[in-house]
Amino acid sequence: MKQEKLEQLKKQCIEASSETIVFGEGSIDAQIVLVGEAPGAKEVEQGKPFVGQAGKNLDEFLKVLELERDAIYITNVVKIRPYKVNEKTGRKSNRPPSKEEVEYYKNYLLEEIQVIQPKVVVTLGNVPLKTVLKNAKAAIGEKHGIPVQLENYYVFPLYHPASIIYRQELKKVYREDLEKLKEFLKGI
Ligand code: URA
Repeated sequence: MKQEKLEQLKKQCIEASSETIVFGEGSIDAQIVLVGEAPGAKEVEQGKPFVGQAGKNLDEFLKVLELERDAIYITNVVKIRPYKVNEKTGRKSNRPPSKEEVEYYKNYLLEEIQVIQPKVVVTLGNVPLKTVLKNAKAAIGEKHGIPVQLENYYVFPLYHPASIIYRQELKKVYREDLEKLKEFLKGI
């Protein structure tokens, strides 16, 4: 039933989008849903969320939590790759998703969560945090590492691992938050 609902949702999403979709994947019975921002080039190439460098970051996440990738459900707020094109070289590079893109795709995410019915939704960075909390003012700098209880599940906000590349001081904070998440998961 869950599988069919997810497949239907994915089909709707593909039909409604003009770009290549990278939909969520993983265990339909997962207790943890991990939500990123949007796919990049590698994800589009392979049709899977969190591969390439982002996949390596994910491996660290899974290692600390002692989880297998296929034990959780992994997805993004935006299901297409947001990119800009360099006028001179014609090359594409990633950009943050626009408000319109978030607005357009957020219902797919909220429905994925509703179908899976996890205990915890782990958000990576500001975009998934604001989307899942339905609060544009929520800021990762204040909320990271602190679970928020919603009606049907907890939200556990983490920094986006990619932000650590630009802000090395966050590496320690990210590791501490992961340990907090590990403890939190033991108690639910
Ligand atoms: N890859 C994804 O699928 N999501 C991100 O947020 C970053 C990289």
